[in-house]
Amino acid sequence: MSLDSYYKDHWVEIEPDRLDRYEDQFVWGPGRDRLLEPAELRVGQSVADYGCGPGYLSVELAKRVGEAGHVHAFDINANFVERTLARVASNGFADRVTVTHLQNDMLPLADDTLDRLVIKNVMVYVDDPLASFREFRRVVKPGGKVHAIDSDFYMTAFDPVSPEDWRIVLDSALHAFRTPAIGRKMRGFALEAGYTDVQVQVIANPETTGRMFNFIQNMAGYAREGGQHDEETVQRVVDIASRAVEDGTFFSLNPQFLVTATV
Ligand SMILES: C[S@@+](CC[C@H](N)C(=O)[O-])C[C@H]1O[C@@H](n2cnc3c(N)ncnc32)[C@H](O)[C@@H]1O
Repeated sequence: MSLDSYYKDHWVEIEPDRLDRYEDQFVWGPGRDRLLEPAELRVGQSVADYGCGPGYLSVELAKRVGEAGHVHAFDINANFVERTLARVASNGFADRVTVTHLQNDMLPLADDTLDRLVIKNVMVYVDDPLASFREFRRVVKPGGKVHAIDSDFYMTAFDPVSPEDWRIVLDSALHAFRTPAIGRKMRGFALEAGYTDVQVQVIANPETTGRMFNFIQNMAGYAREGGQHDEETVQRVVDIASRAVEDGTFFSLNPQFLVTATV
């Protein structure tokens, strides 16, 4: 894989280990409901889930829009499209969710189709975040909302991994992200794209059970694939984090930026 397009290619093709880790990483729990509150999801709405991954969020959106609503789920990974189709069907929502395999950053939807577009942890990967915010504004009806949720990777923190070691791992894995500081930048992109109102919240809950250890393993993998890393530091970070998960001392923080932009 070329490092220039790695941020996209590593989603089009996902190695089996990482694919399995995502089943853990993206599972929905009640703790995540707060992430959706500003979107004001309601029964009867037509909602997009942009970059649906294995489909946990699509199921949550289907519950919220009810029988009278509809969810349009999109992803660039063929396996995630299959998993989302299977997950919505096994939850009894096959009729209210359409799943589409995206080929580029344009949406196969007519102008003014949606009441809401939710994009969770995907803006960091799109080719051009400003162009994406403009494309979302095209497909969302006047008065509708785009709700973008994302990390700011320079603000991630782990303990007992040292900040210095973590920064070395992060720097050698940055080819995995198009816009690593997307969290702080989304408001500016949304304003520039011409939304009438843009609100921002940040939710920062410590994660101590080890779910974020999956993320550390992914980052170690990206660094190794980049081939310009310091293996001793990468391995030390993985070992320290792994021991901390086992002995219960693992601490992680990954603030989530919630940008809700009204068309
Ligand atoms: C970190 S995962 C988030 C999955 C899901 N939104 C969630 O939060 O559970 C990123 C997802 O975005 C997809 N993706 C990455 N780049 C994309 C793009 N340019 N357009 C659409 N989907 C993309 C990936 O295939 C992957 O499913």
